[in-house]
Amino acid sequence: MPLPKAELHLHVEGTLEPELAFELAARNGVTLPYADTEELREAYRFKDLQSFLNLYYELMAVLRTEQDFADLAGAYLARAAAQGVRHAEIFFDPQAHIARGVSLGTVVEGLWRALGSSERDHGISTRLIMCFLRDESADSALETLQAATPYLDRITGVGLDSAEVGHPPAKFREVYAAAAALGLRRVAHAGEEGPPAYITEALDVLGVERVDHGLRCLEDPALVERLVRERVPLTLCPLSNVRLRAVETLADHPLPAMLDAGLLCTVNSDDPAYFGGYAGDNFRAVRETLGLSEDRLRELARNSFVASFLEDDEERRAR
Ligand code: ADE
Ligand code: ZN
Repeated sequence: MPLPKAELHLHVEGTLEPELAFELAARNGVTLPYADTEELREAYRFKDLQSFLNLYYELMAVLRTEQDFADLAGAYLARAAAQGVRHAEIFFDPQAHIARGVSLGTVVEGLWRALGSSERDHGISTRLIMCFLRDESADSALETLQAATPYLDRITGVGLDSAEVGHPPAKFREVYAAAAALGLRRVAHAGEEGPPAYITEALDVLGVERVDHGLRCLEDPALVERLVRERVPLTLCPLSNVRLRAVETLADHPLPAMLDAGLLCTVNSDDPAYFGGYAGDNFRAVRETLGLSEDRLRELARNSFVASFLEDDEERRAR
């Protein structure tokens, strides 16, 4: 039995497996510039975040209808359930779809077809987190939040993702303040490729409750001390860090040192179709390669529920 866990850092578009990409391409009459799934998989050699994002955005071309988004999310939930995921807080990137002429309604209604029945179908409770693309303008983020007004009953929070360096969190001060005023929860990617100062800014300027990745906090001992003291959860993604070369090899991953420092770490999959594994695969990888004890693994699983946006009673039921 896999350890029951919550997944807190998962981009639904990053769960698009090559087989489903080709199936959706055929269904929608989209031509992919790859002969087959094998040739596509060959392209999964990334040198950094941007080289991954280029392919991630390119493949989104196959996602066109509500049913496409429902199939995408349904396939993820089935895989996650098999790996012990009981609760999933799922990111999506509306601007990347709106820019292709796919409306926010199509995306949210489609995802909801799968998420709305996820507890019954997969035993997984879910939340949706709408991410702003940090390499787009602050005005575009504000427009996206406005466009989300009809769907706010289905959206729990906002996040910030895409190309990090050169796009500091403070750029999104206004939209995060507006999101907070609407009662939305707040998270942001920070310290994946960007400097530790971006983590501090995400906390102080955006008021985030969790930091996605946060890996580079280790370069600033005072920041580590603060994150420990304030019990700020970090949603780490070990296999992603290897594939995007944030760490050289998994054996070099600082997760054990981060746990020893008292940081509230969680283990997640980020974009599992691209990075070689879902939540359980990430747990297995850190157990096998980093030699984490059973106690440490249980701590990571417990942290994932503690750091989630579940209410206390829901959290107890999910664990
Ligand atoms: N979008 C999808 N995956 C991402 C990641 N790891 N970092 C930033 N933006 C992303
Ligand atoms: Zn991410």
